[in-house]
Amino acid sequence: MSTSAPQPTITPYPDGPLLLRGDVVLQTADGEVIPRHRRTVALCRCGLSAIKPFCDGTHKAAGFRTEG
Ligand code: FES
Repeated sequence: MSTSAPQPTITPYPDGPLLLRGDVVLQTADGEVIPRHRRTVALCRCGLSAIKPFCDGTHKAAGFRTEG
């Protein structure tokens, strides 16, 4: 029986953020660790969030659309 943690995953949410699940360290471009308080977080991919790299829901008001 394996005791290793499940692999982290990134799942694109239609017309919205990337959902990151699992143990992954988020860092700034300078290598500073970005604190996360939940095991699952939503990462902005519309570019409009005021709390990047996290999604703040602005994509909805902006009408952000994805193809998949
Ligand atoms: S994807 Fe939600 S604010 Fe950018």
